[in-house]
Amino acid sequence: IPVDPFDLVIFGGTGDLARRKILPGLYRRFRDGQMPEGVSIVGAARSEFDDDGYRAFVAEALAEFLPKAKLEPKAVKGFLDLLGYIAVDATGKDGWAELAGRMRKGVVQAFYFSVGPSLFGALAERLHKHKIAGADARIVVEKPFGHDLESAKALNATLAKHFHETQIYRIDHYLGKETVQNLMAVRFGNMLFEPLWKNQYIDHVQITVAETVGVGGRGAYYDKSGAMRDMVQNHLMQLLCLIAMEPPSKFDPDAVRDEKLKVIRALKPVEHEHIVRGQYRAGDGTPSYVEDAENPDSLTESFIAMKVHLANWRWNGTPFYLRTGKRMKARHSEIVVRFKEPPHSIFEEDTGQSANELRIRLQPNEGMDLTVTIKEPGPGGMRLIDVPLDMTFADALGEEASDVPDAYERLIMDVIRGNQTLFMRGDEVEAAWAWTDPIIGEWTEREDRPLRYDAGSTGPEEALILMHRDGRRWRELSS
Ligand code: BG6
Repeated sequence: IPVDPFDLVIFGGTGDLARRKILPGLYRRFRDGQMPEGVSIVGAARSEFDDDGYRAFVAEALAEFLPKAKLEPKAVKGFLDLLGYIAVDATGKDGWAELAGRMRKGVVQAFYFSVGPSLFGALAERLHKHKIAGADARIVVEKPFGHDLESAKALNATLAKHFHETQIYRIDHYLGKETVQNLMAVRFGNMLFEPLWKNQYIDHVQITVAETVGVGGRGAYYDKSGAMRDMVQNHLMQLLCLIAMEPPSKFDPDAVRDEKLKVIRALKPVEHEHIVRGQYRAGDGTPSYVEDAENPDSLTESFIAMKVHLANWRWNGTPFYLRTGKRMKARHSEIVVRFKEPPHSIFEEDTGQSANELRIRLQPNEGMDLTVTIKEPGPGGMRLIDVPLDMTFADALGEEASDVPDAYERLIMDVIRGNQTLFMRGDEVEAAWAWTDPIIGEWTEREDRPLRYDAGSTGPEEALILMHRDGRRWRELSS
């Protein structure tokens, strides 16, 4: 779908996210011919750059964060020509009049707040005061969206002073991932799954987001957050919502978000015994969590596994196991929907028959597969084997799938199109914190100590036991 001409201002335009994700993503859209004529992208931050200085800065970022093959000199030059820069003091007076002068009438306006949440209020107020943002302007904000329910409410209230909810785009980049959207297509575009999508036929769901990186370099932020705030409250929660939600009546922002909100509100409080928290040890040449966090007494978790239940008709009794961690064995994110075994086997006991499993792989090797049981070919009698029906996009779709857009570029284009479906609404974020807060509160009260786990492992053994106790097991982590 083509987009209209736009003015995009990136506050924090010299920051890490802008360099790593936002600008490379915009470049890719440009290179692919997805940007209309008449686009202006303005970096705004404290550093003193002129337009050319900023272009050189962005050229370096592109070279650093994009594969060489993607850097076509003509496209790079064309993209850099769209860029400008204004030095702006977020909490002061400097730069605002100049910014006002740069904004054009009659084009889509978007303001990306790629800055810490403590600056959201100051930016919103100044955009309003200097009459920079028109009535239709969009603002994009990043996580962390608050630290708990109270701070999230305060942030929502601050933004609401100057912007309507339909103008606010809260990014959770997991919603921009190709597979995550495909999950909705598979659930709601087929007859095959939805009738079985309930406690009666599904034994359990596993959601794993395992990373090999540690928290070095961002220890100061991470140590105040931990895996629960950094990953579960947002990314894993969104994945859970997409698996568990009722079919919305249409693929429209509020219809989808209303259904996700109902899932979050149906989450039961989690029992303390159903949570395993961990902290990574030093590895072969890699520092331990407490070294990375520069806090020898840290009680923050870099790994969490938990068993979660939903209180509603569809999911009563079906556990959702969530786990996420840093410095694990492999970078591996997936959702596994494990169906129940057939109620009665007509075959002999040891035929090897097992339950169907739908695996939705987010990374690496995005795609899905469904294991089904078939007869082992040959004359050996009725021996059954499980085979995956592989739906790896690259195989099925060939070239088209080999260059799927990154989550950020897709989401930024959705902002320009004015489509909020893949963004979190204020009430969703608050509901997620309302569920998270008591869990974290209990750890603080108990002075709960995370268990240590080896770098490069699957996390503390207790996380495996969490499932073994229920007669279940996690899928292997593999890269
Ligand atoms: C971010 C978290 O939101 O998501 C990081 O703050 C995490 O800690 C990252 O590493 C993971 O994103 P992705 O897309 O690499 O899975």
